[in-house]
Amino acid sequence: MALKNQNPTKTNAWKSLQELYQGIKNTDMKKLFMQDSERLEKYSLKHDDLSLNFSKNRISDDVLKSLVALAKEVDLQDGIDKMFAGDIINETENRAVLHTALRNKSGNAVMFEGENVMVEVNETLQKMKVFSEKVISGKHKGYSGKAITDVVNIGIGGSDLGPRMVVDALQYYKNHLKTHFVSNIDGDHVAEIIKELDPETTLFVIVSKTFTTQETLTNAETIKKWFLSKGATQNDIQHNFVAVSTNLSKVVAFGIAEDNIFTMWDWVGGRYSLWSAVGLSISLALGFDNFDQLLTGAYEMDEHFKTTSFDENIPVTLALISIWYNNFFETESEVVIPYSQYLTQFVPYLQQGSMESNGKSVDRDGNPVDYQTGNIIWGNTGTNVQHAFMQLVHQGTKLIPVDFIGFKESLYGNEDHHNKLMSNFYAQSEALYLGKAKEEVHLELKTAGQQDKISKLLPFKVFEGNKPSNSFLMDKLTPKNLGKLIATYEHKTFVQGYIWNIFSFDQFGVELGKELAKKFLA
Ligand code: F6P
Repeated sequence: MALKNQNPTKTNAWKSLQELYQGIKNTDMKKLFMQDSERLEKYSLKHDDLSLNFSKNRISDDVLKSLVALAKEVDLQDGIDKMFAGDIINETENRAVLHTALRNKSGNAVMFEGENVMVEVNETLQKMKVFSEKVISGKHKGYSGKAITDVVNIGIGGSDLGPRMVVDALQYYKNHLKTHFVSNIDGDHVAEIIKELDPETTLFVIVSKTFTTQETLTNAETIKKWFLSKGATQNDIQHNFVAVSTNLSKVVAFGIAEDNIFTMWDWVGGRYSLWSAVGLSISLALGFDNFDQLLTGAYEMDEHFKTTSFDENIPVTLALISIWYNNFFETESEVVIPYSQYLTQFVPYLQQGSMESNGKSVDRDGNPVDYQTGNIIWGNTGTNVQHAFMQLVHQGTKLIPVDFIGFKESLYGNEDHHNKLMSNFYAQSEALYLGKAKEEVHLELKTAGQQDKISKLLPFKVFEGNKPSNSFLMDKLTPKNLGKLIATYEHKTFVQGYIWNIFSFDQFGVELGKELAKKFLA
């Protein structure tokens, strides 16, 4: 069944939120903390070792109640249930949205069009496991009989960003295989990658759900030509090329043996596909057990999302707070700052997940919306960003809600570095919240013996404060925790799109540019 169709701005909860906004928009969060000694505890949620502190937001109990009431009034639970049940909620493409089946560890069937999709899902996972183990152990040889040393993922968008992010984020758990990613149609990208490679010992994984994407096919053809020019024959392709796709006939026409094709399904959206065989390069780089742990983490978050009441539900809370700023404070963007160098690729990944999903301006009835939808997502890793864009977040004219992500332990155990890193993690959210009042700046300059400069410097050194942030904290970066974190943001995106009454699972907006590029090429 289709998703319900209702304009969120016409709900009673929306009206209450508008009134509450007038009362709270300029309230100093320090006052809210003073009024409620349990605020931190009350405005924190936990799921195993993942905790979310959302106390530093311009929200009150009444705001939270009305946000939850909004979710209930539009019957979010119905939307969640329909997604997990495989209903055709991607109506514009006439597809189900079942990425959660890819990590379904319950042992229960997931039915779609009368078939239990778990049969094929598990078969594909098994095929990935067997193949990964053969490549990692050296049993699978390249065409000249040598073991594989390098893996190249050829794909773009969801067929690149997810695997690239996970392999980079979990490099600590990596094996000896070197993993490379080619995505851009810029010939210099592929040239830079192949110049280092030995065709005899490189495995090419062509990842394209449609197998029609210009960038991926152009890169794959270039690589095939290079491979054949190095002494390999057409028959050797079966040893060094595999593909992940729904389009079997096109893959075969490219020259890849049927046995070397890992299937995926129409009901997996590109940007939600790293859990499928699209994650083959993850399984190759980290070993299948780590890939499986990633799936387990996501599954655990799925269960939390599906079964937890909205007021204690981590993805729902994140989505509601985001809607609160986007639609009432009229903030345009959100910044995500992981305090882990490993998560450098996390924001580019989230950008596709969120912006390709919710960058829509027509509601589920096909009418233009008269309210804001998708946020601009941006960010990078702390502490690097403190020396780059944080100035604007602290003292600029725009209100920019922040998500901080941190880990209690580092992976290599360097305590000195980690204490310094995490003191910055805590300090940034505190600085945004507290700000620095005139009186403080005055005293500071006086104490520093700069009395003569007070009148000139004071306005520049004042921080307004009262800037919102959420903070995620986990014990350490493990495959399981990463799976949980990714699933959290996936579900946040779903809840936002559901409440905004848009279709989050199509991406027609990327088509026009593709069509025009073809015309320019001609
Ligand atoms: O950018 C548009 C898009 O369709 C994405 O949604 C998708 O992840 C990407 O292109 C790649 O598509 P494919 O896997 O079919 O090559």
